[in-house]
Amino acid sequence: MEFGVKISVIGCGYLGAVHAACMAELGHEVIGVDVDQSKIDVLSDGRAPFFEPGLPEILTSAIATGRLRFTTDMSEVADAEVHFVAVGTPQTKGSYAADLTYVDAAVDALIPHLAPGTLVVGKSTVPVGTAARLAEKVAAGAPQASLAWNPEFLREGFAVQDTLGPDRLVYGVPAGDAGERATAQLDEIYAVALAADTPRIVMDYATAELVKVSANAFLATKISFINAMAEVAEATGADVTMLADAIGHDVRIGRRFLNSGLGFGGGCLPKDIRAFRARGEELGLGESLAFLGEVDAINLRRRDRMVELTRESLGGSLKGKKIAVLGLAFKPDSDDVRDSPSLDVAARLLAEGALVTVTDPEAIETAKRVHPELAYESTVSDTVADADAVLVLTEWKQYRALTPEDLAGAAGTIILDGRNCLDRDLWRGAGWTYASLGRP
Ligand code: UGA
Repeated sequence: MEFGVKISVIGCGYLGAVHAACMAELGHEVIGVDVDQSKIDVLSDGRAPFFEPGLPEILTSAIATGRLRFTTDMSEVADAEVHFVAVGTPQTKGSYAADLTYVDAAVDALIPHLAPGTLVVGKSTVPVGTAARLAEKVAAGAPQASLAWNPEFLREGFAVQDTLGPDRLVYGVPAGDAGERATAQLDEIYAVALAADTPRIVMDYATAELVKVSANAFLATKISFINAMAEVAEATGADVTMLADAIGHDVRIGRRFLNSGLGFGGGCLPKDIRAFRARGEELGLGESLAFLGEVDAINLRRRDRMVELTRESLGGSLKGKKIAVLGLAFKPDSDDVRDSPSLDVAARLLAEGALVTVTDPEAIETAKRVHPELAYESTVSDTVADADAVLVLTEWKQYRALTPEDLAGAAGTIILDGRNCLDRDLWRGAGWTYASLGRP
């Protein structure tokens, strides 16, 4: 495997940029393609267009070896043996369905460059049935090429680690010889992970597509389950974090992904459960996936509750109150604010007449693009200065470690914990009013 496999990666967003860099790191020869020239310029320079720990380092080292290049010119993929499609599938405007425009455009643009024996590998999250439809397209336009579906399970913030050492490999392949060839081609690419005994499961297209969306649906359901328990806890004086710890000891339940608070956001979970529901409706399976509507509703209600909790804590009105918000990213170790619960809450407090100052270790620039009307500060002390209440809405490590002394500049002593991530006793002990979601 001296020179690895010649690979192209179409789409250099979160998924594609990380995949391209990691495949080069593993020894393959990779060309990344994107229609966005500015993104290609940044990547070619060895920089990441978004915050992702470890990514700039492997971009720089892979580019230096000569095994990784980026371009906007699709014709440069012509000598690659395997082509990964890693473009986005956002929520369609005005509907819950996934927008497949970019996936179709990528495959259409790729077809004229597919040499005999090459493999197109879908990585994007798509509605079940998409791979079969794209396989027909490939068969018509490049009869000697084939298609596989190889969903990705990486988490933002751990993207490099998850891509280099995945917890499982899923191959959706066609039946017969074409499927065996596709499996062998993917095995060569993932040789390092396979040598480390990573489970690899070979299946049909539909199952592979469903593995991806059902995994995200399960994770979203787990979070909304604990947040529904938080609603019950709020009404009964129970403590949802103790409840989570206690039920989490049952290995069948498990403690991970059982953190209650403001709920899930980001570019995947929210849009994926909506797209899955929309696909279910199309298939006449509305009832089977109707529960995902509840999962979504529970999740969104947490944001309403956070706004109410803030109002209650400030004596019943938000008008003219100075509120400091710590955390804007949809989760720590990310600058991603797509469907971010924290940013949403900050914007709603402002819309209700509060004076809102916000900060985040990484997401200020991305948040400004969506909500320029908020007041931004780069340090915690400037953000909390003269604040009547301080809200911790994304559980960055540095916010979890805050002490009452760090917030000495605030006017009030109200701290609201949107992620159940602070030490309640520490704050109460120092004379602060501490409140959170799902705990007395
Ligand atoms: C998610 C999945 O975890 C990945 O496996 C998947 O590959 C990815 O979507 C994708 O489809 O591309 P990601 O969006 O990076 O990954 O974020 P998660 O770590 O899943 O967190 C999602 C949201 O749930 C965050 O807003 C987080 O704050 C929230 N969350 C997570 C909770 O509210 N409670 C928890 O216990 C865990």
